[in-house]
Amino acid sequence: MKIGIAADHGGYKLKEIIHPFLAKLGHEVIDFGAYKLDNADDYPDFVIPLAEAVAEGEIERGIAVCGSGVGASVAANKVKGVRAALINDHFSAHQGVEDDDLNIICLGGRVTGNMAAEEYITAFLNARFTGAERHLRRLGKVAELEK
Ligand code: RB5
Repeated sequence: MKIGIAADHGGYKLKEIIHPFLAKLGHEVIDFGAYKLDNADDYPDFVIPLAEAVAEGEIERGIAVCGSGVGASVAANKVKGVRAALINDHFSAHQGVEDDDLNIICLGGRVTGNMAAEEYITAFLNARFTGAERHLRRLGKVAELEK
């Protein structure tokens, strides 16, 4: 899969763990930065380009990391066509895709450990949207807001 990753200073260290992890799984990884640790950087500068790439279909899924994962999810969800969520448990990591067609997972670099992050990412990437009528109906109501 073609996967995009992005992080600010709060998520930088975790992003640097995630990148080789994804490559080892055989994914093509597009890194939207940050490319160095800079405590003065701002998550929208990395997360919004990642979210736009997901929305435009340039990458299939995205992984956005900030300190808590909150700012990353707030920013990503402003981009039309993006369905992003902060994930802190295994169930939500796959159910978010199966029911809600999640296309960006947000993680907290200051909250989630490396192994847990890898577990959530694996569950997220292995999951597929079911396309069930009730889920399409619900997502349709959300998509109305983007018109
Ligand atoms: C940056 O210090 C921090 O606020 C940011 O990484 C993120 O946690 C925001 O939600």
